[in-house]
Amino acid sequence: MTTQDSPRPRLTTASGAPVADDRNSLTAGPRGPILLQDWRLVEKLAHLNRERIPERVVHAKGCGAHGRLRITGDISDLTCAAALQPGAETPVIARFSTAAGERGAADLERDVRGFALKIYTPEGNWDLVGANTPVFFVRDPMKVPDLFHAQRRHPRSNLRSPAAMWDFWSLTPESLHQVTMLFSDRGLPVGPMHMNGYGGHAYSLWTREGARVWVKFHFKTCQGHRHYTNAEARQVVGRSRDGAQEALFAAIEEGAVPRWRVQIQVMTQDQAEALPFDPFDLTRVWPQADFPPIEIGVLELDRNPDDHFAEIEQLALSPSNVVRGIGHSPDRMLQGRIFAYPDAQRHRLGVHHQALPVNRPRRPVHARHRDGAMRFFGPAPDPDAWYAPNSFGGPREDPAFAEPPLDLHGPADRHDPREGADDFVQPRALFLRLDEGQRRRLFANIAESMHGVPAEIAERQVLLFQQVHPDYGAGVCAALDAEDPQF
Ligand code: HEM
Repeated sequence: MTTQDSPRPRLTTASGAPVADDRNSLTAGPRGPILLQDWRLVEKLAHLNRERIPERVVHAKGCGAHGRLRITGDISDLTCAAALQPGAETPVIARFSTAAGERGAADLERDVRGFALKIYTPEGNWDLVGANTPVFFVRDPMKVPDLFHAQRRHPRSNLRSPAAMWDFWSLTPESLHQVTMLFSDRGLPVGPMHMNGYGGHAYSLWTREGARVWVKFHFKTCQGHRHYTNAEARQVVGRSRDGAQEALFAAIEEGAVPRWRVQIQVMTQDQAEALPFDPFDLTRVWPQADFPPIEIGVLELDRNPDDHFAEIEQLALSPSNVVRGIGHSPDRMLQGRIFAYPDAQRHRLGVHHQALPVNRPRRPVHARHRDGAMRFFGPAPDPDAWYAPNSFGGPREDPAFAEPPLDLHGPADRHDPREGADDFVQPRALFLRLDEGQRRRLFANIAESMHGVPAEIAERQVLLFQQVHPDYGAGVCAALDAEDPQF
């Protein structure tokens, strides 16, 4: 077959000119140096230098897939959100991640897993950026940079520092609930298909009539919970650092459709006010006995991305993205995140990250933002109306999309959310639900992680475990002894 007959397209430069020779640089004679005018070589080398963008500052290692959210229940009395109406079927992209590791980190490290969704609703994108645990380490975003720093590499050694991690946690009793989850079996799931997802924060659902309830979103795996022990995970990581990603990708390539049952917990404002704890505190769950989960639908994933970078790395998920019928709540961690994510994405991807194909809403956009770096999309649909008010038309506001007002009370001050909070009661309830084997693994995982941590830090942490439950403290002490008899 001649080159001319070939069905393969011609290789071109980035500016579209067909390339005659992609193997040999332009040199002065057969043995001479390369000429600076070889702009095709320059273009290739320059592009290579720019293939990396800043990785996510946390949750850098991840994988994902496309699918849909199907609503099988009826909560139309609670929300007017189009994607939550009975029978609605809405395209979704999901990204699963580990929290602390860098982009090249091994999948199977003990860590909180991200469970994040972009739901392309007919009324704009709704993102639920959650995790495989329903709670978090701290309850005020002021402490989040410190929490992340304590889990990062030490400035001098550039090594992860268990001493820093346990130092921070042992001085932060509100972290006990999440720490217990992290060192229990659920801290090391075999992969995304075998873990639950939780929206974490309280969000709100609201109706056009102005009624509002508080809700939490849960995604319960239909594949069954599976986890590795530390030793098993080490073996898998010895074979591959991408164990979780390989399993998800292979399953979907082979036709599997991983599913999660979607549930909500619902709380009225009256119930919220009557609770003995703050329902907007992210270190706490809403007890299921008092707020039973209601089944509302199914999340299913059935298509791998065609291009990991374009669809997963450039994916910009943010809790700020809500749509009509779904709102935020007074959770102060949520307020921190509403700022942090779009800010991170302006840095990581640029000011027009929402216009990238994977982030673009599946409906027309009529924002009045203009210009900026890399404004790669076409002309504004409303060229005479890039300001308002104007005399020429263009997009208009629609009060039908207004969220009902929310009463706020109290003086503006730096109120301490730790005051009067009992940080032990919910971790205790969790600990008491663990069977013998689960407790044994919890103690051993903690002791292994504390290896080499200064004794005063370990002792301070054991005292916290003791206050959760005497068996918890004693179990960790015994495991520390077994790990290091000097302790
Ligand atoms: C990613 C900050 C709490 C789950 C990120 C990113 C930032 C961030 C800056 C990178 C975003 C990007 O570059 O696209 C924060 C702050 C928090 C917080 C400031 C607290 C105030 C949480 C909580 C959860 C969570 C409570 C879980 C409920 C995630 C997930 C991702 C992420 C899943 C990765 C999203 C993706 O797959 O692209 N966080 N985070 N974060 N965070 Fe948080």
